[in-house]
Amino acid sequence: MPQPSSWFSSPDDAATRLSASGYLADTATATTAYLAGALEKPLLVEGPAGVGKTELAKAVARVTDAELIRLQCYEGLDEARALYEWNYKKQLLFIQAATVSREATATTGLPQSVQDWESGIFTEEFLLTRPLLTAIRRDQPTVLLVDEVDKTDVEVEGLLLEVLSDFQVTIPELGTVSAVRRPFVVLTSNASRELSEAVKRRCLYLHLDYPDAEREREIVTSQVPDLEERVAGRLVETIGRLRDLELKKAPSIAESVDWARTLVALEIGELDEKAIADTLGVVLKHSSDQEKAVKELRLRS
Ligand SMILES: Nc1ncnc2c1ncn2[C@@H]1O[C@H](COP(=O)(O)OP(=O)(O)OP(=O)(O)O)[C@@H](O)[C@H]1O
Ligand SMILES: [Mg+2]
Repeated sequence: MPQPSSWFSSPDDAATRLSASGYLADTATATTAYLAGALEKPLLVEGPAGVGKTELAKAVARVTDAELIRLQCYEGLDEARALYEWNYKKQLLFIQAATVSREATATTGLPQSVQDWESGIFTEEFLLTRPLLTAIRRDQPTVLLVDEVDKTDVEVEGLLLEVLSDFQVTIPELGTVSAVRRPFVVLTSNASRELSEAVKRRCLYLHLDYPDAEREREIVTSQVPDLEERVAGRLVETIGRLRDLELKKAPSIAESVDWARTLVALEIGELDEKAIADTLGVVLKHSSDQEKAVKELRLRS
């Protein structure tokens, strides 16, 4: 029997605890995190790069004392990497050792048929569990992060479906493994491709975007407390202006935080045009974006 969920007691509880651990969630994020725990539904978080999708899963694990199990998705990810595989080397060694010992001792107590062999080598001892199966089998609190799910091939979504809808995995040789304790599942996506409706239907959905200026200033100053409030305000305002330009890659929260660290490291107390131009490489990573920014913000290059 699945145990009752014990993730967050309310949206406020989620907001307070996440914020105490350094993750400043807005109301929609805190509410969805609470609901994902209460309804035991996977949470699909979609949005541009660097807005805190992955960090949300990490923060939930931190504040709930759960272990974070991460499945990093990439093109070509397959069942053997996502779910489980049989330890073929060990199976072969076992068969070899058994054959040698049979020849040496001429005993006849060894398996004679293929079925007999199978029952010996397709057992727990020869199973290599991968993140999805590991998360399903844990009886301690677990956050399962399926990161960048849009990077996989569509076939992997089929694998996810069984896990996401029934919290179980079927291994033909062993049977069905059902979750003793449902993990808190977070899927993240940059929306580089549409996920299947079947996956979406099973998830709660959260669209994360760049935060408003006030929240971003809070995030920056909480991570870089040495940054002066005034400079933080100017930094966030400049980041906002850069995001309004049509850039190849708009600066994310991660870049805001890096920029703040840079200003502190260089002891820059005033974010004037020169300071911005000198440190733009921390924020914009394409030369065409930098040129555009310099021009549009009328900076000295
Ligand atoms: N709400 C937040 N509170 C505190 N820090 C945040 C928040 N959102 C983002 N950050 C900071 O931004 C950084 C980048 O976030 P994260 O790695 O989660 O981005 P992402 O959305 O997963 O991006 P990508 O799509 O590139 O993987 C984090 O390490 C964290 O420092
Ligand atoms: Mg991420």
